[in-house]
Amino acid sequence: MPKDSLTITDNRSGKTYELPIELGTVRAMDLRQIKTDADDIGLMSYDPGLQNTAACKSTISYIDGDKGILRYRGYPIEELAEKSTYLETAYLIIKGELPNQEHLDAWSHNITMHTMLHKNVNRFIEGFRYDAHPMGIMVGTIGALSTFYPDAKDIEKIESRRLQCRRLIGKMPTLAAYAYRHSLGLPYVPPENELSYTANFLSMLFKMAEMHYRVNAALERALDVLFILHADHEQNCSTTAARTVGSSHSDPYSAVSAACAALYGPLHGGANEEVVNMLEEIGSVDKVPAFIKTVKAGERRLMGFGHRIYKNYDPRAKIIKKTAYEVFDVTGKNPLIDIALELERIALEDDYFVGRKLYPNVDFYSGIIYQAMGFPKSMFPVLFAIPRVSGWLAQWVEHVLDTEQKITRPRQIYLGEKLRTYTPIGTRPKPATLEQRMLAGRL
Ligand code: CMC
Repeated sequence: MPKDSLTITDNRSGKTYELPIELGTVRAMDLRQIKTDADDIGLMSYDPGLQNTAACKSTISYIDGDKGILRYRGYPIEELAEKSTYLETAYLIIKGELPNQEHLDAWSHNITMHTMLHKNVNRFIEGFRYDAHPMGIMVGTIGALSTFYPDAKDIEKIESRRLQCRRLIGKMPTLAAYAYRHSLGLPYVPPENELSYTANFLSMLFKMAEMHYRVNAALERALDVLFILHADHEQNCSTTAARTVGSSHSDPYSAVSAACAALYGPLHGGANEEVVNMLEEIGSVDKVPAFIKTVKAGERRLMGFGHRIYKNYDPRAKIIKKTAYEVFDVTGKNPLIDIALELERIALEDDYFVGRKLYPNVDFYSGIIYQAMGFPKSMFPVLFAIPRVSGWLAQWVEHVLDTEQKITRPRQIYLGEKLRTYTPIGTRPKPATLEQRMLAGRL
């Protein structure tokens, strides 16, 4: 009879151990019993980048990277992008079910009631330099919100958790729009509650002296679709940051601020900005083959390509490519799309990319759309962060309620110096050169 267990023989001691397999995993802590002697702390697993470590059980997003599948709470991303709205999807992600009309109306109302910022938050944003990156403003200001809402520390109370979720989803577009207008020296535009989530965001961004900003319905919908596609993506770098910070029982603003900081990096949410930088640098379709050569030579990465999980295609990239043309119908074509298409065409035929299973990811086309809609590049990661807040919050709630969880505290393999004796400053040897320090992986 096949058994759900793993038998390990430790060749150092000749002992055999049987570890249970549950849900396709063995518990890393079960390895601890494997010791060479009583002083041995026990066997650990080594997994830089946590590539093969499940750190939680989750019911939010499902991804099959080989088949190119992404589902939120069981619903395929393609269906949600076609039929849902961002606010409805956020409800689904956070509460686990699609709402009926009454619940959706109440949810939308409750979020809309939290779109305004305390005027001291506005002042806080004003304190940033005129050229501050809006993502830096988001990281700082979201963190600062914890000082405005000290009740958020009551993470054990369901009412507090629900309130912070509504507050943060409501405030994200306002924070983002104010971060943008700050960089232009423009006055902040207050939210308009009769507009949809994305229409209100566009109004707070782009309204000038007119009474009412006229939002183009196609662009409002395109942005809503982009928000749906970015709402959650299981245990990525930023979500892991939110869970890790949340695991110490800090408030959700601190956890989401950490997630936002993780998203800022060019290998994660900053990639869409880098894609447009790359396309602008390439400049024209005829320069694509030379650029591909530099990528294959290992001199640089093809930004917007490759994914830790998707090894066939990223289903979000397919939908985004279609959305790009819907946006161009309104804004006119972004000429960078021709360079992007040529890069994709060549890369998908090339052994280097095919062999490594590198395909366009969600960021490959999103930046081109955002640029066509009039967003500066620095706003691209912010546009990723706004909808991802619903995912971060849902994952944070799941973590807080998970009785198996503990404060996140990985182990290390210490390879540093053995015991050394402190020496007086005058007797120390000449410091290592920069080159020697770099070779040793030091600053
Ligand atoms: N261009 C060229 N080569 C690449 C690329 C790329 N974009 N991505 C991976 N490779 C190569 C890499 O050099 C390595 O080759 P080799 O085996 O010869 O050393 C191999 O493919 C495996 O790469 P890896 O770095 O081990 O893969 P990873 O799973 O650690 O990294 C990734 C995933 C997304 C960080 C990486 O593919 C990358 O840097 N892509 C560009 C940045 C990007 O588009 N990021 C957005 C990700 S999707 C949105 C999000 O989740 O934030």
